[in-house]
Amino acid sequence: MVGGMMGRRTKTMSPQEKEMIIQYLQANGLKTMDKSSTAHAGASGYAEFVEFCSQCHDLPDPSIHTSRKWPQVVREMEGQMKKASLKAPGADKEKALLEFLQGAAKD
Ligand code: HEC
Repeated sequence: MVGGMMGRRTKTMSPQEKEMIIQYLQANGLKTMDKSSTAHAGASGYAEFVEFCSQCHDLPDPSIHTSRKWPQVVREMEGQMKKASLKAPGADKEKALLEFLQGAAKD
């Protein structure tokens, strides 16, 4: 038997891990976006936002942070994605989703 690679899981989080994060965030009151709402569906950057930001938790409501604060949050989340070996946005997609968030931000 060849050792070393045994037990290496796929790149996605387990449903249990995902559930833990969601429970944590709900307990700590993350306001998430109403998914039945189509208000943002066609907005530029929305597709990227959904692609990357729903990998671990529900989509946050963009109005929870100001447009000044979002770049910092997105950077932190990118760190989370790298830590979890999930796909992270490249420069273009990051810019697109950030602009979406800033466009719908609190201010
Ligand atoms: C790799 C998993 C993962 C991905 C992907 C991810 N997040 Fe998170 N997110 C977390 C974890 C874990 C927390 C709770 C700990 C924390 O706040 O850092 C969190 C918390 C948050 C919070 C609440 C804390 C705060 O600073 O307001 C927001 C908002 C948020 N994420 C936004 C995003 C956005 C926007 C994206 C897409 C760019 C994203 N997340 C992608 C794991 C992730």
